[in-house]
This record gives sequence, C-alpha cells and structure tokens, in this order.
Amino acid sequence: MLGSSNKFDPNTDVPDLSGRVYVLIGGSIGIGYGVAAHILQHNCEKLCLAGKKEEHLIEAYKSLRSYGDVSRVDLIQCEFEDLQHTHEVVQKLASQLQRLDALILNAGLGVGL
Ligand SMILES: NC(=O)c1ccc[n+]([C@@H]2O[C@H](COP(=O)([O-])OP(=O)(O)OC[C@H]3O[C@@H](n4cnc5c(N)ncnc54)[C@H](OP(=O)(O)O)[C@@H]3O)[C@@H](O)[C@H]2O)c1
Repeated sequence: MLGSSNKFDPNTDVPDLSGRVYVLIGGSIGIGYGVAAHILQHNCEKLCLAGKKEEHLIEAYKSLRSYGDVSRVDLIQCEFEDLQHTHEVVQKLASQLQRLDALILNAGLGVGL
C-alpha cells in the first residue's frame, strides 16, 4: 500500500481458524465481504454472515465458493435498524451457537449504498 508500513498480508498472516466460530454483521459486500472471504479461506468452523439485502447475501454466498467450504456459512437476513428483528436474530444465534470466537460489527453506511 502506498505510503504505508503495514506488511500484514491476510492471505499468509492469518493463522488456521479450525474450530473457530464467527458472526459477521455486514459481510455481504464491501469490506465485510473481504473479511468473510479471509475467515473462510483460513478454515473456520462456522461463519454466520449477516446483511440487509437478501440478493447481496446470495451473491456473497456464491462468490465465497472460491475461498472455502460454504457449507460452513450461514446466511442471516436482518435489518439492524429494526430493533425487534435484531433481538430475534440475536436470540436465535444465542440458542444455536455452542461458542463464539469473534463478533464483527461491520454494518454501516459504506460505498455499497
Ligand atoms: N468504505 C469506506 O471507505 C469506509 C470508510 C470509513 C468507514 N467505513 C465503514 O466500514 C464499514 C464497511 O464499509 P463498506 O464500504 O464496505 O460498506 P458497504 O459496502 O456499504 O457494506 C455494508 C454492509 O453492511 C450491511 N448493512 C448496512 N446497513 C445494514 C442494516 N441496517 N442492517 C443490516 N445490514 C446492514 C450491508 O448489507 P446490504 O448490502 O444488504 O445493505 C453490507 O453488507 C461500514 O460500517 C462503513 O461505515 C467505510
């Protein structure tokens, strides 16, 4: 990267993520999608991928096939501005997941508006 001393390369510097479970909010496009691809690429146990638009989630799921085993990816359609819906999603996740290694809160207004 121009002008940066950052040498971190997620392709080679992320460790093996075997057995790890992730919830990624806002992972269907943009930066979040890139994070999702790297998590899957490094062999996570499960990746719960949430976003607002179903078409973006489906497109992400198809593209993620290039990075790993998409049977490990659960899609979650959610409008996080709707607090009741958010509460229902969280309750469902809490009842389904046996562990959670990281919750990545990436959803927000970005370039993919
Ligand atoms: N890109 C930048 O230069 C930049 C700079 C500073 C900060 N950021 C922050 O970094 C994050 C990612 O940026 P980005 O450019 O990659 O964003 P993006 O391409 O617009 O992607 C945003 C993601 O968040 C989801 N999302 C947004 N609002 C949501 C809602 N109400 N409920 C559920 N999901 C929602 C989107 O789902 P849908 O696609 O289905 O709507 C999408 O998956 C954002 O929080 C942004 O504010 C970005």
